[in-house]
Amino acid sequence: MTFDVFLEEMKDKLGNVVPEPEIYIKAEIAWEINKLKKEKNAVILGHNYMEPALFHSIPDFVGDSLGLSRIAAQTDKDIIVFCGVRFMAETAKILNPEKTVLLPAKKAGCSLAESITAEDVRNLRALFPGVPVVTYVNTYADVKAESDVCCTSGNAKAVVESLDSDTVIFLPDEYLAGNVAKETGKQIIFPSKMKSGADPNLDYQMIGWHGRCEVHEQFTVQDIVDIRAEYPEVVILAHPECSPEVVDASDFSASTTAMIHHIEATQAPQYLLLTECAMGDNIAAAQPEKDMLRLCRVRCPHMNEITLEDTLTALQKDQYVIEVPEEIRLRAARAVERMIEIG
Ligand code: 13P
Ligand code: SF4
Repeated sequence: MTFDVFLEEMKDKLGNVVPEPEIYIKAEIAWEINKLKKEKNAVILGHNYMEPALFHSIPDFVGDSLGLSRIAAQTDKDIIVFCGVRFMAETAKILNPEKTVLLPAKKAGCSLAESITAEDVRNLRALFPGVPVVTYVNTYADVKAESDVCCTSGNAKAVVESLDSDTVIFLPDEYLAGNVAKETGKQIIFPSKMKSGADPNLDYQMIGWHGRCEVHEQFTVQDIVDIRAEYPEVVILAHPECSPEVVDASDFSASTTAMIHHIEATQAPQYLLLTECAMGDNIAAAQPEKDMLRLCRVRCPHMNEITLEDTLTALQKDQYVIEVPEEIRLRAARAVERMIEIG
């Protein structure tokens, strides 16, 4: 393919979401990245929250956390460039110790991953002996290493139901835990204020934590009421990191890829996504016939760190290399591999 054909393809795809002069600049960078990617035998994985010019130009695979983990587990390339956040790149490294995994930005964290430490998990195990620990994949490797099994928004219910235990510890997202508790019919408690285990009079089968996604916690039931007043036939899709009240008031809730598939497979006059706002643009570019409403107060500052410019530098300089100490990696791999098998 020539650069001119590549540029025309990018214009066709992005014309309704990115200004034309910007497409030209982005196409030049993306063209360089794609050349270098081949030369260095690299694969680029792009999360659904990447900005549209990146999402639609350089990834070999796009998807949600679960889908990208599965692809990372199977790749035969020498280098994995993860256009996502640090916990995603770490998960790829956990599954591929012999490969080079690059994250194009030094920071690209996640408020959920920051909300819990390995010591917190050990303390919870001591408070609830024998209770299995399910950890959301949005955590760092040392926390995964303390867990029995990981999950993503794509298989959280299936992972909880796969355990041979009535009671589970589910960390660290308070809202995802609340949504899974509802789906599985479990009573949930949050032990952060407890010093010595749960009150024996309490009836509970799930133990949560107080982490939250700084993006999804901002959506409210009032947002939904306001949008429905203006667009009575709108279909509202909420990521399960939104509060249980918001999920209840919406029409559909699932992982980012399942939301995209739901929009592909249905015909509604309008759609509203209650999730990171770049995803609405990515869907608008891929499915221009769909009317995507925007409630774009919030762009995830961590996902926003990953740009085409930084991805080019990452490939040129082999930066930033993700390392996970082997002792932690081995224990984390058990929990991640178990997750990949489920759901
Ligand atoms: P998904 O696994 O649904 O892609 O979600 C990842 C994430 O970070 C949501 O905020
Ligand atoms: Fe973390 Fe939320 Fe950003 Fe996802 S959107 S990476 S959960 S802060």
